Amino acid sequence: MTDLYTKAQALFPYTQSMRRDFHLHPELGFQEVRTSGIIAKELRELGLEVSTGIAKTGVVALIEGAKPGPVVMLRFDIDALPIHEETGAEYASQTPGLMHACGHDGHAAIGLTVAKLLNAHRQDFAGTAKLVFQPAEEGMGGAETMVREGVMDGPAPARTLGLHIWNGKPLGWIGIAAGPVMAGASSFKVVISGKGGHGAIPHLSIDPVLAAAQIVTALQSIVSRNVDAQKAAVVTVASIHGGDAFNVIPPQVELTGTIRFFDTAVGELVHRRFEEIIHSISTAMQCQAQNEISEITPPVINDTETTASVLRAAGVVFPAETPDTQPYVTMGSEDFAFFQQKARGTYFFVGSNNEARGLNYGHHHPKFDFDEEVLVRASALMAASALEVLKDA
Ligand code: NI
Repeated sequence: MTDLYTKAQALFPYTQSMRRDFHLHPELGFQEVRTSGIIAKELRELGLEVSTGIAKTGVVALIEGAKPGPVVMLRFDIDALPIHEETGAEYASQTPGLMHACGHDGHAAIGLTVAKLLNAHRQDFAGTAKLVFQPAEEGMGGAETMVREGVMDGPAPARTLGLHIWNGKPLGWIGIAAGPVMAGASSFKVVISGKGGHGAIPHLSIDPVLAAAQIVTALQSIVSRNVDAQKAAVVTVASIHGGDAFNVIPPQVELTGTIRFFDTAVGELVHRRFEEIIHSISTAMQCQAQNEISEITPPVINDTETTASVLRAAGVVFPAETPDTQPYVTMGSEDFAFFQQKARGTYFFVGSNNEARGLNYGHHHPKFDFDEEVLVRASALMAASALEVLKDA
């Protein structure tokens, strides 16, 4: 295991060429046909047992160790975003309007590199590494669909591991924390219906704009007045639409937004208060409200034992470094949580920005790009973590 970093370094030209190829040809969630075709071909060339077509474009490969033992699942997401790339990189997207702006091109390349590393280390472990290349992570339900289609069965993993290359931190930083690391998320759409009419004669109308304004304001009392000040939650109204003339009261106003939380009980409280506020204010304002709340993901909560295994792996691969074990809490969400609900596991972060080279734009920015050295570090750490978790599972 000590030489995994050296081996990952030797594979860098391969990893980089795969990453750049995926970057040139981004594909949106559930449409990653080219990407998953290449992934399956590369894995088959290693002689692995490969399944395709799970959640449309997902790919699963099994790497059997020398002896039977537990199964650890390693997850890599592969989808791109509807963003027009502005990096000017030589490997910039060739598809206008689509871009790998979150680094999932890197994750796919890391997954292929981890496959090579673990395949070369078959003699050193008991059990099975189950590599899962997941489509549609970007709010489209890829993980949930994979779980529904049986990715957690045959063979069922005892543990799960996932990672994100992280431009919020510099190359050299590693974040490995137990507990909550990414938020649970839901989206909402509220339609407030009143009665349209002339803007100069409001008493003959029922004004949904006034109701919407009070609702937007009152929703902000949930986090400030209902949630324990030492716990985290977010309620954001992100869009508000209604009316199109200065002198007409519209019949309807539509609000959309998102709710974020770490603690399930806090999530339930926020959702309950959300419904109460929407309905009671609408009623008080003589309007009617219809709301749809859709769960996006539960929170990502890292398992203590698996996290300890990943930390031991980091100690072996990067003996001179000290990983950051403070929960790198972000209110961003990650559907890796759906896999964790079936098999406890850990999701860790590998710092990837390089300010001196201008590679420090945030995820989902049209100029997002990262220092490719992170591909080596993340591949070595993921492979070592798999071996360490298999020892303990
Ligand atoms: Ni991402």
